[in-house]
Amino acid sequence: MIKLAITGALGRMGSAMRAHLKNQPDFKLVLAVSHRLEKKELDADLKRELEGVQLAGSFLDADAKIVDAILDFSIPEAAVEYARFAGNHGIPMVMGTTGFNQEQLDKLAEYLQDVPCLVSPNMSLMMNMVYRLVGNATIVLDDYDVDVEITERHHRGKRNAPSDTALKLAQIVAEKRHWPFPEVVKHDRWGMIGERKQQEIGIQCLRGGDVFSEHEIMFAGLGERIEIVHRAHSLESYARGAVRALHWIINRPPGVYDMLDMLGLPEVLY
Ligand SMILES: NC(=O)c1ccc[n+]([C@@H]2O[C@H](COP(=O)([O-])OP(=O)(O)OC[C@H]3O[C@@H](n4cnc5c(N)ncnc54)[C@H](OP(=O)(O)O)[C@@H]3O)[C@@H](O)[C@H]2O)c1
Repeated sequence: MIKLAITGALGRMGSAMRAHLKNQPDFKLVLAVSHRLEKKELDADLKRELEGVQLAGSFLDADAKIVDAILDFSIPEAAVEYARFAGNHGIPMVMGTTGFNQEQLDKLAEYLQDVPCLVSPNMSLMMNMVYRLVGNATIVLDDYDVDVEITERHHRGKRNAPSDTALKLAQIVAEKRHWPFPEVVKHDRWGMIGERKQQEIGIQCLRGGDVFSEHEIMFAGLGERIEIVHRAHSLESYARGAVRALHWIINRPPGVYDMLDMLGLPEVLY
């Protein structure tokens, strides 16, 4: 039985995880950390659901001894503090929050150096498969005259753009082509900008309504093109990935891992 703390426990992903964990007998939610979580604010359903779960506005009020692992889906500023707590108390962590800047990433690396931690901007198992497909397609198409463009679509509530997933896809293409990343990323086409440069990876970001999460990678050649598309239908795919990640991380040696480490997908698929 893994005794779990969720941070960002009342957000969209935090709520999806709470729902998903109800059918996971290996996990027990023992601590819900939420910056707006005070018992008096909870409606009757939530009060019932969280009965027996320790509630905390931050880890300052929380008891580390009751926790085997931490799962975070929050915002970068808060996630860095949650990571500091995990590091200080030696608690394995799965980190799903996206949108970190370089300074925050450096802090994560510092705080998490002595604990096993899986950090992934996209916990979907299929999206991680797409990372490998894109890497392989880039290698195979190296001799062709092919332009790579990425489009991502998300709901109106998403805070960061481009998505970390779109950036990761661009990074994979850039690395395979030995191009400098992120310098080759182009995201501001408007007006008389002239012809597309050869050494360029375009990212377009669309936002609206409750569009879930979609990423399309286009390899556009002359007379033909390939499009690799991943569409998440619900938060279920991330929740399932996060549960697998938690199972996997709990007994790892200290280090920062990602989903590709967990899945053991080889770099070259064919
Ligand atoms: N890795 C993946 O597979 C994956 C999948 C989906 C989303 N994400 C990422 O996960 C993160 C959360 O996504 P979401 O859709 O759940 O967003 P969300 O509904 O906006 O939830 C974010 C949560 O962060 C917490 N938060 C906000 N402001 C805070 C503050 N000042 N201090 C402390 N906590 C604060 C809040 O939770 P509390 O009120 O409970 O504190 C809030 O509900 C985002 O970065 C998103 O991109 C990752």
